[in-house]
Amino acid sequence: MPRYAAVTGWGHYAPEKVLTNKDLESIVDTNDEWIRTRTGISERRIAAPDESTSSMCSVAARRALDQAQMAAIDLDLVICASTTPDHLLPATACLIQHNLGAANAGAFDLNTACTGFVYALVVGTQFIQSGTYDRVLVVAGETLSRFLNWNDRNTCILFGDGAGAVVLEATDQPCGVLSSVLGSQGDGAHLLTIEGGGSKTPSSAESVASGEHYIHMKGSEIFKFAVRSMGQSAGEALSKAKITTSDLRKVIPHQANIRILKATQEALGLPWESLFINMDRYGNTSAASVPIALSEFIECEGASPGDNLLFVAFGGGLTWAAAVLRWADVDAIIAKRVEGPYAI
Ligand code: ACO
Repeated sequence: MPRYAAVTGWGHYAPEKVLTNKDLESIVDTNDEWIRTRTGISERRIAAPDESTSSMCSVAARRALDQAQMAAIDLDLVICASTTPDHLLPATACLIQHNLGAANAGAFDLNTACTGFVYALVVGTQFIQSGTYDRVLVVAGETLSRFLNWNDRNTCILFGDGAGAVVLEATDQPCGVLSSVLGSQGDGAHLLTIEGGGSKTPSSAESVASGEHYIHMKGSEIFKFAVRSMGQSAGEALSKAKITTSDLRKVIPHQANIRILKATQEALGLPWESLFINMDRYGNTSAASVPIALSEFIECEGASPGDNLLFVAFGGGLTWAAAVLRWADVDAIIAKRVEGPYAI
């Protein structure tokens, strides 16, 4: 019997502290009008001192498990996508696994920057489709505020903190990831980096003094890459799934820049309303942006069995990723599991 990986749980978490464009005006030489018109961002969330990627991911994951009516002990695997992990060692996924009490789950991290959630969704789906596992938590979170140079107006206005998660579950309903496109172009690695703190440039007084622990970005080159890769990978994912834009219920894109989304929308010939957009309130939360948007979309608008969603993202690496996901009859899957095989 064919196996599919349905999304049966979803959740997100955004820290309480809101940093508005107006607030940024007193930190760097910028203004609300420039930020809104050049990026589409009005405000972003900033993690509290006692929060980190693992703590925010754990909250989002608990919300996704509650939604799926699933106990953490029943998870087989935890995959965490992040480019701002709690530590280089151990993996953030292990901390989340412990926080949740997912004692029967393996755990590992995956880092492809902003495309991390889409990559992890595809990887988690493979574990289920192959029959290796039945229940996989895919969670993505970022604490980008800790890696920003708050004197660099080119980067500090763009990013925010947060986390999003989905529960993937084996089913015989034809649903889940129908197609995927994962790409990388490592010759653009230098365009978006945190150089310090790794094996090539270990942390030292010198590396900190020269600001190598901060995010460095060549914004306009990333912009051109993003416009090219978003439209192209989205188009490929649609044709691999043998559907067209008119078969889509919603596009859930990486929330980096409104102008990049406008170009993607035009390249695909989509109505603007078919894109779900929340970057005005969260900024770019890197790997967390797609699952936060998915969770908000389901909460606000809901999805019906058979709806096709398109995820599309670009990120440091450079990387790109797109996937078409068919929404399942979630209630039926949960009811079958909760009632059990002997229920009348
Ligand atoms: N406030 C006011 N002015 C600013 C600011 C600011 N915050 N930042 C830059 N400017 C100025 C520049 O100094 C420049 O002035 P000049 O013409 O006098 O030199 C002018 O505005 C234009 O600067 P550009 O960099 O050319 O502006 P651009 O239109 O390219 O927009 C931006 C910059 C928003 C960063 C855009 O390039 C972008 O969004 N790029 C993609 C970035 C991105 O998405 N990165 C995340 C990748 S995903 C991941 O993996 C984390």
